[in-house]
Amino acid sequence: MRVLGIGASPRKGNSEALLDEALRGHPLGEKINLRELELNPCLSCGRCGETAECVFKDGISTLYDRLYDFQGIILSSPIYFGSLAAQAKVFIDRAQFAWAGRHLSTRQLPQGVKAVLMVVAGMRNRPDFFRNAEEIFKIWCSCLDLDYRGGIYFPGIDGLGDVTANDRQRAREAAWLLLRNEGGSPPFSVEIGG
Ligand SMILES: Cc1cc2nc3c(=O)[nH]c(=O)nc-3n(C[C@H](O)[C@H](O)[C@H](O)COP(=O)(O)O)c2cc1C
Repeated sequence: MRVLGIGASPRKGNSEALLDEALRGHPLGEKINLRELELNPCLSCGRCGETAECVFKDGISTLYDRLYDFQGIILSSPIYFGSLAAQAKVFIDRAQFAWAGRHLSTRQLPQGVKAVLMVVAGMRNRPDFFRNAEEIFKIWCSCLDLDYRGGIYFPGIDGLGDVTANDRQRAREAAWLLLRNEGGSPPFSVEIGG
């Protein structure tokens, strides 16, 4: 199974460490950090409503061009102010080409690509932060016809190096569980630690 891990943190930190673990169980895994790409936020120019394509040809458009080469996608982000990090939101907003283009008969999105959200928050006891992030991610999945499989949530991880060996193991197990090719249980959320 080809799995793409998309890292949204501006630093090489906790969410990336956990993403690396999640990818470890997938020999065909690949990682892209949004911070290393040229990130242009949506301009709301409306052109994608006429063409189903974004006017930007940048790192994000290249990433969207490649999205359906994978059978699984994991978006990993820190929680910032109760939501996804800005890098993740820029990436998500750029899916507007798919939303606007759905009315154009030429646009046919591939089906069956599985998608998982992985989120790390410094605070404990604020499940609403994870629910916020989850709702945004689910809307994005539905816009792109991705098969939302669930979320993996890590509360109480803040400083660099706070990720424990147990967190890493749980990241691996949960990602495997959510992405493996079985019907039935997902989507569901796995909250780790707390
Ligand atoms: C700008 C900013 C906003 C943050 N907002 C929140 C927040 O709303 N809730 C929370 O629990 N943690 C918050 N945090 C803490 C991060 O979620 C936490 O440090 C996380 O482990 C960072 O992940 P990373 O190492 O992958 O970047 C914030 C951190 C920053 C820098």
